[in-house]
Amino acid sequence: MEFNDVRLQYESLREQIDGAISQVLAGGRYILGQSVQAFEDEFSRYCRAANGIAVGSGTDALTIGLRALGVQAGDEVLVPAVSAAATAMAVVTLGARPIFIDISPDDFNIDAALALDRKSSRTKAIVPVHLYGMPARLKDLGRGGVPLLEDAAQAHGSDASWGRCGSFGIVSAFSFYPTKNLGTYGDGGMVVTSDAEIAERSRLLRNYGQRDNYSSEVFGQNSRLDELHAAILRVKLKKLDEWNRRRRQIAALYRQGFEDLPLGMQAETGTSNYHLFVVTTPERDRLRAHFASLDIPTLVHYPTPLHRQRAFAEFNPARCPHADLLCSRVLSLPIHAYLSNGEVERVIDGVRSFFKR
Ligand SMILES: Cc1ncc(COP(=O)(O)O)c(C=O)c1O
Repeated sequence: MEFNDVRLQYESLREQIDGAISQVLAGGRYILGQSVQAFEDEFSRYCRAANGIAVGSGTDALTIGLRALGVQAGDEVLVPAVSAAATAMAVVTLGARPIFIDISPDDFNIDAALALDRKSSRTKAIVPVHLYGMPARLKDLGRGGVPLLEDAAQAHGSDASWGRCGSFGIVSAFSFYPTKNLGTYGDGGMVVTSDAEIAERSRLLRNYGQRDNYSSEVFGQNSRLDELHAAILRVKLKKLDEWNRRRRQIAALYRQGFEDLPLGMQAETGTSNYHLFVVTTPERDRLRAHFASLDIPTLVHYPTPLHRQRAFAEFNPARCPHADLLCSRVLSLPIHAYLSNGEVERVIDGVRSFFKR
């Protein structure tokens, strides 16, 4: 059993993907060409937003999105205490200060009430993360009047009552890291926004601050999605809804299978794309060892909350007890579109046999 489906996806789409790669190679244009433009149009439409600016990684999408929003050195940006390090690193890269906000113990996303309590005149943005693909409570967060940059790196195709993830905040950041629900064979990301000015600034920032060749209007950087990756992602985008549907089916089977067990599960705030399916238990490490003995792969997302990581020590004094508890108890189970019903049953039986001892 595999934890993710990167290899299996390629096997099932080999012909189309190899064809798309060959076409780019033969075409002679490898940076900011037709494939990138077409993918920007297709993916931003998929997100129900007006503009997509394809960049080098999800981290760059966050950094460029924040810069386009006007975040500068000395500003404060609120981020959840549980996420990938990139969420807070993008803030630090700009010389701004990440303020770690505890998560809600039911949906594991940033606690909106705590975030709004903590905002001040220095707060320039809030970066809610749709953790594991589950929509964060953006409507509540939006009441604070602070611009929201959605970290949608894990939420391609997740939906909530307020719309599709990536369409609500003034700007959003996606990652196409290989294991994401929509991933390429390398790094990639996209800034998604319906705000024309933010779109224009992001376009400048990703390409040396240039609108026209060799004339830099602002201090930018080099962060462009390669044509090769755009061509691959265009093939895969056509399968994303089908893949997400299968992940949701598996999540429903897991929820049903664990219903009567002493296991915590993420509250459903909308329709997750189930990038990850996590359970929580005080016996996490023993459950993980039990899975290892059954040859079932598991991972921990994440073992250490951001406010306890050395890289962010200077920003620490945050107290985030729910984040601490989640990170000590959370376990990610295999979930992907190519998991068979038999494999799903093996996972459920694995959990049930652990609690039967
Ligand atoms: C929530 C979150 N934000 C940001 C990132 C950064 O994306 P990338 O690895 O493409 O830079 C990731 C992926 O690792 C992520 O999961």
